[in-house]
Amino acid sequence: MKEKDKPIGIFDSGVGGLTVVKEITRHLPNESIIYLGDTARVPYGIKSPETVIKYSRQNAKFLKEKGIKLLVVACNTSSAVSLPILRDEIDIPVIGVIEPGARAAVRCTKTGRIGVIGTEATVKSGAYEKAILQGARGKGQGARLEVIAKPCPLFVPLAEEGWFENEVAEMTAEIYLKSFKGNGVDVLVLGCTHYPLLKKTIQKTVGNGVILIDSAEETAREVEGLLKEKGLISNSESAVKDFYVTDNPERFSKVGKVFLGENGLGRLSIVDISSY
Ligand code: DGL
Repeated sequence: MKEKDKPIGIFDSGVGGLTVVKEITRHLPNESIIYLGDTARVPYGIKSPETVIKYSRQNAKFLKEKGIKLLVVACNTSSAVSLPILRDEIDIPVIGVIEPGARAAVRCTKTGRIGVIGTEATVKSGAYEKAILQGARGKGQGARLEVIAKPCPLFVPLAEEGWFENEVAEMTAEIYLKSFKGNGVDVLVLGCTHYPLLKKTIQKTVGNGVILIDSAEETAREVEGLLKEKGLISNSESAVKDFYVTDNPERFSKVGKVFLGENGLGRLSIVDISSY
C-alpha cells in the first residue's frame, strides 16, 4: 500500500475521541481511520500520570502495528501526560490535542486572560498552561498572558448520557463556570474530548463575549497541515473506518451515534490490548 493511503490511527480513553474523528473526516474525507477507544479502562482523567502513560503506550503500540501513517492522540488527558514519551518512542508523526488548542487560544485572546477546562489529570499536569505560554512567547506575548484552569469532571458523564442542554447540564455548567464570568477571560479552551458536545450550554453560561476553542476542530486542521506538508494526503475513493474497543462494543455503538450520527460508525471489533 502507498504510504499516503495508509490509515490515520486515533486513540482515546473511550468514546470521546469520536469528536476528533468527526472533524478529521470533515476536513479529510478520503482518509482511512483506525480508532481505538479504551472503553475497559476509561476514565483516564482521574488516574495517575504513570497509569495514563502505561495505557497510552499500549494504545499507541496496537495502532502502530496496524500500519498507520500518523498517530493522533485524541484524548486530552493522554496528550497532557504522555505525548513527549510517545513522540520519543514511535517513528511516525504523533499529534496531540493540546498544542493545536493552545495555539488557537493565543491567536484569539485580546485580554490575555485564557480559561482552560479539562479533566482533573489534564488540569493538574499544567500542560495547557505550558503550551499556551510557550506559544505566546514565540509570538513575543508571553509576559501578558494569564491562564486560569479548572477541572469540570461531571461534563464527561453528562456528555455520555446525551444530556447536553437540559437543566442538569445548565446547573452543572453554572457551578463550574461561574468564576469565568466577568473576570476578563475572553477565550475558553474546551480541553477535554467530551466538552464540545456541551458547547451550547457552556456558551450560554459564560456569555457570547467568550470565544470557545474546540480542540477537535483545531487538531483536524493540524492533521491536514501536517499531511499536506509531508505529501501524505490520500485521495483514495475507498477510505474505510475501523473502530476497536477494549470492552462493551454495544455501549460504544450506542453512545458513538450521539457523537457521529446514525451512519458514522464503521466496522467495530473488540480487542485485548493488555499484552501490548
Ligand atoms: N478523553 C478524556 C479527555 O479528553 C476524557 C474522558 C476520560 O477521563 O478518560 O481528557
